[in-house]
Amino acid sequence: MAAANALTIRRPDDWHVHLRDGAVLAAVAPLTARQFARAVVMPNLVPPVTSVAVARAYRKRILDAVGTEAGFTPLMTCYLTDTADADEIARGFEETVFAAVKLYPAHATTNSDAGVTDIATVHGVLARLEKIGMPLLVHGETVGAGIDVFDREKVFIERTLGPLVEKFPGLKIVFEHITTKEAVDFVRAAPASVAATVTAHHLMINRNAIFEGGIRPHYYCLPIAKREQDRRALRKAAVSGEAKFFLGTDTAPHAVSAKETACGCAGIFTAVNALELYAQVFDEENALDKFEAFASRNGPAFYGLPVNEGTVTLTRAPTPVPTDIKAGSETVRPFLADETLSWRFEG
Ligand code: NCD
Ligand code: ZN
Repeated sequence: MAAANALTIRRPDDWHVHLRDGAVLAAVAPLTARQFARAVVMPNLVPPVTSVAVARAYRKRILDAVGTEAGFTPLMTCYLTDTADADEIARGFEETVFAAVKLYPAHATTNSDAGVTDIATVHGVLARLEKIGMPLLVHGETVGAGIDVFDREKVFIERTLGPLVEKFPGLKIVFEHITTKEAVDFVRAAPASVAATVTAHHLMINRNAIFEGGIRPHYYCLPIAKREQDRRALRKAAVSGEAKFFLGTDTAPHAVSAKETACGCAGIFTAVNALELYAQVFDEENALDKFEAFASRNGPAFYGLPVNEGTVTLTRAPTPVPTDIKAGSETVRPFLADETLSWRFEG
């Protein structure tokens, strides 16, 4: 394919974001709203978003942060706990407050302590989701003594996700932020009810980046980046155009002070230049013609939503990534801060 210098696609969506709350929300939500028409908003606040009323109030704070002129729609999620109430979840879906339910295995990642301790405790809720066609979004990692951090996703597929797909063949499942070749293979082999999101950072770095010349906290996220062969498999899946793979940045801002410390938080902040990062990958893979499927079409098709009206354009132009974004009294550092990207978002 001849190297294009401009790319216009249907307005895209981000199917996995962390917008936080308060000053950070005010700083980061407009960045996502600038590039995306809709975003699936993760519920791992403290305390987590577990009720329709709390989700409604959070949605209002997000809309206040972005302003109505942004034309942005936050798609809210319900944090699944051991004691989740299927009726409350179903009501939220019916009232179009909740777009999906989020499963965090307890202690798997940031603010997941209220997560599910044993998947069997939520089988009743999952049966209900299957019945009403409500998607389950899965943080696919098994944690526990004896499980290597780099094997968490693979073990989750074997012990939890595989059996889950068999038990609930009609349940729509998004395997979030996949990081391994095993996950790509699993999703491909699974029924059409199973899809996956892929982050920009997992397409760009492998685990060596975390240790290059010293420990690099801004490349630390969960699931942690894996081997080069995994990154290559993720790239092939993302640029394939296949309906099962779509864009979900997992942009996860943390204050620089919480990242650069003895026990730093997991999360990579990509909202500043999300589309530029992905466009660079698709360009490198000679697959710009598949970018619209990945960014704008496959996600809505899976969720059963219409594609967005309007378009966005990216051009091939050097784009510096800022060092920091101010968020109240804190700063957050973007992925690839101070580096220069090869595509620019024009709007
Ligand atoms: C996320 C966060 O900071 O909330 N962190 C991350 O490393 N991705 C949580 C998550 O999505 O796992
Ligand atoms: Zn996330």
